[in-house]
Amino acid sequence: MQPTRLIIAITGASGVVYGKHLLEVLQKKKIETHLIVSKTAEKIIAHELEIARSDIEKLADHVYSVDDLIAPIASGSFKTDAMIIIPCSMKTLAGIAHGYAENLILRAADVMLKEKRKLILVPRETPLSVIHLQNMLELAKQGVTILPAMPAYYHKPNNIKDIVDYVVGKALDCLEIDHELFERWSGKSL
Ligand SMILES: Cc1cc2nc3c(=O)[nH]c(=O)nc-3n(C[C@H](O)[C@H](O)[C@H](O)COP(=O)(O)O)c2cc1C
Repeated sequence: MQPTRLIIAITGASGVVYGKHLLEVLQKKKIETHLIVSKTAEKIIAHELEIARSDIEKLADHVYSVDDLIAPIASGSFKTDAMIIIPCSMKTLAGIAHGYAENLILRAADVMLKEKRKLILVPRETPLSVIHLQNMLELAKQGVTILPAMPAYYHKPNNIKDIVDYVVGKALDCLEIDHELFERWSGKSL
């Protein structure tokens, strides 16, 4: 069933454009969004997108400070359908894997795990260490979707927008939200 209320977190990994574009799509679809942007993500937004954190926050319905541990989304009693961290740094991924809920992103993800709600992580790092891989395996065993920011090329992207659309489209697929961001493989092209 399509979600109506989502938590979106943007952390300090390369590829903050994915988080921005996901918010743009969700805003158009009128899906309620609760956004947290980490402190390093704010710096990467300035560097990679040359915009302010507030430009991204305008795309969300509700915005929280990463230090706000008394926000509604810090509690399991506040109903949400799913959470996605896009992009997800290895630091945040490690914190979730080990229950180290020291900021609002980590706490909200911890709530998703304890309440058995949908949690999707879009990690971006390369190469991956054994620690990174072990943390991802642990989370996958807990039912977390690990959706690496790995574009495909079978839909023949022409530009960066097509590549971003593909990764965001895959995230929307995991969230069970209909979209037409990329052409699906039909098997007719070969
Ligand atoms: C320009 C820049 C790019 C970075 N890219 C990545 C990345 O792709 N993946 C990653 O795991 N960490 C990356 N980092 C390191 C994280 O930002 C760092 O570990 C930080 O503590 C993450 O904190 P956060 O998860 O609270 O945002 C990057 C840092 C900078 C400054």
